[in-house]
Amino acid sequence: MNKFNLPKIHSTLIIGAGHGIGLSLVESLLDRAPEARIFASYRDATRSNKLMALAKQFSSRLKTYQWDPNSENNYKSFAEKIEAETQHIDLLINSIGFLHNSEFKPEKSLRDVNMDQLMESFRVNSVVTPLLARYFFHLLRHDQQSCFASISAKVGSIEDNQLGGWYGYRASKAALNMFLKNISLEFKRRNCNTSVLSIHPGTTITELSEPFIARTKLKLHKPEETATNILNVIDREAATGSGKFFSWDGKELPW
Ligand SMILES: NC(=O)c1ccc[n+]([C@@H]2O[C@H](COP(=O)([O-])OP(=O)(O)OC[C@H]3O[C@@H](n4cnc5c(N)ncnc54)[C@H](OP(=O)(O)O)[C@@H]3O)[C@@H](O)[C@H]2O)c1
Repeated sequence: MNKFNLPKIHSTLIIGAGHGIGLSLVESLLDRAPEARIFASYRDATRSNKLMALAKQFSSRLKTYQWDPNSENNYKSFAEKIEAETQHIDLLINSIGFLHNSEFKPEKSLRDVNMDQLMESFRVNSVVTPLLARYFFHLLRHDQQSCFASISAKVGSIEDNQLGGWYGYRASKAALNMFLKNISLEFKRRNCNTSVLSIHPGTTITELSEPFIARTKLKLHKPEETATNILNVIDREAATGSGKFFSWDGKELPW
């Protein structure tokens, strides 16, 4: 079995590629994985213009799929569409995430905590990843080393939590991390050569962070820098780091 080698992979699936970090991952992979076919999902076409333009420009390598991860009914048929194109996925990255929308802002206090926002946080940030692992397992398991990664967040680290607040986002990312640890153990038990990584991307200028970046003292990254950092972590850790939580700079984070 060959070790994971990003420049040599043949196929990759990016979930949540319509904009933000997911879109930058697609752009970066077009360059860093020159032999790979890239399959990319987006939800809202009106917010995915750049992805559409790339798909036209790189029509032999990049194929896009409008796909909504919020219903389990959509997973099997989506996996079948990818399977019609490739028998093997070498790298799957889930880049979707929810922090705020027109209805919900991150909860500062228990006074803000409510069922609808908590359910939305867990549905988008936690539940999608184990469903992807379930429905794409057979494409990830093959005779080469593959990698299943999900973009998590440092604020989901229970040990690192010194400030509190952001109840739904923090807890749903902590749950995501537990799902990823579990998936890594099951993949190993089922003789699946797929490493499972949880990756904190660093504070990145996207729609998700936009309301908060003016006040942050944290280092700010452009999405293209973040994509480079994430792919560096994957390239370095996919062979040996399964079941671990990594920061954008390659440091291991506490769960
Ligand atoms: N930006 C940061 O500073 C930062 C820091 C730590 C972690 N992260 C994580 O990085 C990942 C990427 O986020 P980003 O910064 O690139 O933000 P973004 O540009 O807002 O992208 C978020 C992605 O999640 C999808 N999404 C949001 N709500 C959804 C829902 N209800 N159902 C299905 N899909 C939904 C979006 O698709 P639509 O276009 O269809 O809504 C989009 O693909 C997320 O997991 C986020 O938690 C980001």
